[in-house]
Amino acid sequence: MFLMSWLFVFRSTSRPHFIYHNLLPNSKLFSTPDDSKFHSKIPNVESSFGNRAILGDKEDVEDESETNNSNDGRKCSNENDDFLLKVFMYDLPSEFHFGLLNWKPSGNSVWPNVRTTIPGYPGGLNLQHSIEFWLTLDILASEIPNAPKAKTVIRVQNSSEADIIFVPFFSSLSYNRNSKPTPQEKKTRNMILQEKLVKYLTSQEEWKRSKGKDHLIIAHHPNSMLDARMKLWPATFILSDFGRYPSSIANVEKDVIAPYKHLIPSYVNDNSNFDSRTTLLYFQGAIYRKDGGLVRQELYYSLKNEKDVHFSFGSIQKDGIKKATEGMRSSKFCLNIAGDTPSSNRLFDAIASHCVPVIISDQIELPFEDVLDYSEFCIFVRTIDAIEENYLLNLIRSIGKEEWTKMWNKLKEVEHFFEFNFPSKEGDAVQMIWQAVSHKVPALKLKLNRFRRYSRSPPSIEKEISIPLPKNFW
Ligand SMILES: *[C@@H]1O[C@H](CO)[C@@H](O)[C@H](O)[C@H]1NC(C)=O
Ligand SMILES: *[C@@H]1O[C@H](CO)[C@@H](O)[C@H](O)[C@H]1NC(C)=O
Repeated sequence: MFLMSWLFVFRSTSRPHFIYHNLLPNSKLFSTPDDSKFHSKIPNVESSFGNRAILGDKEDVEDESETNNSNDGRKCSNENDDFLLKVFMYDLPSEFHFGLLNWKPSGNSVWPNVRTTIPGYPGGLNLQHSIEFWLTLDILASEIPNAPKAKTVIRVQNSSEADIIFVPFFSSLSYNRNSKPTPQEKKTRNMILQEKLVKYLTSQEEWKRSKGKDHLIIAHHPNSMLDARMKLWPATFILSDFGRYPSSIANVEKDVIAPYKHLIPSYVNDNSNFDSRTTLLYFQGAIYRKDGGLVRQELYYSLKNEKDVHFSFGSIQKDGIKKATEGMRSSKFCLNIAGDTPSSNRLFDAIASHCVPVIISDQIELPFEDVLDYSEFCIFVRTIDAIEENYLLNLIRSIGKEEWTKMWNKLKEVEHFFEFNFPSKEGDAVQMIWQAVSHKVPALKLKLNRFRRYSRSPPSIEKEISIPLPKNFW
């Protein structure tokens, strides 16, 4: 009887519990460059990244890609089961989120009515870390009945029913706006907000129940949450890389890597080709003295006299964006060298420009790498090889028109994974981040259930750490 009801649940309603072992149907969608159907009909491709395909178990995936693209055969008896992730979001005071955008709450709600008002996020370099903004908007939009958005996430009001507890703190914006100390204050506004956040969270029932293990916190700017993260580390973080984190605080098992929002506009109607992109290799960036700076200098001296290489220092600012856009769009390859952090928005600018990224950054972490094979559209070069004389140029010059064109086509196929939209669209960065978060949920629930073993016993730290686990198991 148990077995039968279990099977029934599997078949009809509980899809969200089974998605976790099934990634995107990547083997089919990403590894067959010759599949002309895939190339020629972008809308079809998009629809197969839709939530239902993401939710699908193996059978469904095969059905879809081989025989029938229609979803009509699916039986979903419960509206909520269409969603990938149930999220409980704290009603944090607005100073932690939209208040940082100078938005003022009216009435009882701490949230803007996203049907009518979307507070503007500041432009320029701020935008590259605006992930917090897009995700929060997407959760708010899930409360609007019949909103035109992909069904990946839904806000639930009962935290016991949630897969994850979302902390809507705009930490990158808080860092960008409020981390300069003023003469009269010892602490910056950013530090004070983080202290307040820790105090708020640790006093919540939801936090106490799990010690934060099922919480989701966005700290995309490498310097955001510098203070609070040492106290909030049991949570899952959304980060750009692990460069400035001890591995006990953040690691690939527990946390989610999100893309930067690219600053260079998407290259729509890209009619360029191998020959029309006359620059072989493009690099524009700051020069750093430490770490990556060494590689940058070495490469600069070895490449500066090459006629078809653009290599110049200076970060992208206002009219710099225009120049960099032209530069990347007319180059075959775009260099990404580790700077003071392993990641940068340059990679995502290159993808948006369909300029094949050449990545020299041994510690880089890439978003959605569980479903994306970056080697299909990026060249990876170890730092130790890159500084070998002539190695890099020889490698790049050895990539001919055919191979390059394959990679260029791939870039055009995957670029939508790195687009942030409101309302979010199927297969965009917002949806992909939620999907990546949903992949963390089973391990998180396991961790949580183990943690609850001794919930009837008196609190004892010894008991918790006495569960023998291999190092770095989590
Ligand atoms: C696909 O499904 C639709 C709707 O269920 C059906 O009408 C159609 O015949 C199917 N096509 C194939 C090739 O099975
Ligand atoms: C919240 O959900 C839990 C588990 O489903 C349930 O036991 C509890 O009664 C719910 N609380 C409220 C206030 O609805």
